[in-house]
Amino acid sequence: MGYSNIVILTGAGISAESGLGTFRDKDGLWTKYDLEDVATPEGYARNPDFVHEFYNARRANLRDAEPNAAHHALAALEDQIDGRVVVVTQNIDNLHELAGTRTLIHMHGELFKTRCENCQAVYAWTEDLSRGTPCRSCRLPGGLRPHVVWFGEMPLQMGEIHAALDDCDLFLSIGTSGNVYPAAGFVEEVRRKGQAHTVELNLDPSEGANLFAEHIHGPASEVVPAYVRRLLDD
Ligand code: OAD
Repeated sequence: MGYSNIVILTGAGISAESGLGTFRDKDGLWTKYDLEDVATPEGYARNPDFVHEFYNARRANLRDAEPNAAHHALAALEDQIDGRVVVVTQNIDNLHELAGTRTLIHMHGELFKTRCENCQAVYAWTEDLSRGTPCRSCRLPGGLRPHVVWFGEMPLQMGEIHAALDDCDLFLSIGTSGNVYPAAGFVEEVRRKGQAHTVELNLDPSEGANLFAEHIHGPASEVVPAYVRRLLDD
């Protein structure tokens, strides 16, 4: 195989076995919450306390979570392969970095960061947030929100992502249902260039499964380490 430029898109499925819920599966977050209420700027403007409560609960879950074998396998791939590996994650958890992945793009932001809407400062934040929490930078209360991308907002680092997709010879999509754009469109972007092999690794076939050249179905903690071993052995 001999791939030297690998882009890996990950979604909630890679963190499911670390105890973090997915969005659209049975019992997923979007079966319990209306995403319009907790993941849009309009929902936040309507009821900031409710939105803070939602993300406070998710921060509490994340404080107890650990990377699983799939996160560790991707970090080992980056360490051991003779080439470049870029992980683009839609996840706002920090499990890739805890596993040791270094080249990582958090296109939907980071749960353990906050952003001040008054002064635009962005910094680490692992505790609860509320409307009364003062910003560490400008000292004003009321401006701190989760540093996450909501529906209707622009995903982060898109220029870097397109550049990585342009150059890649292998594109992997792991644990994502392929429902949310622009991430869901990356496989087509790669296929248009025609130079990369495309593989979906997911529990079940995703919405866009037919767009991939190869499919591997099963739990991420099993199929990802096995696939990484294949890549490193070749
Ligand atoms: P989804 O919940 O839409 O999809 C999760 C995918 O992971 C599904 O296809 C599952 O079959 C699969 N899956 C579940 N458990 C798995 C396991 N153990 N191993 C492998 N795969 C498994 O989550 P995302 O595709 O990540 O955005 O959702 C994309 C975006 O929608 C999120 O980033 C979030 C959400 O709304 C925002 O909030 C902006």
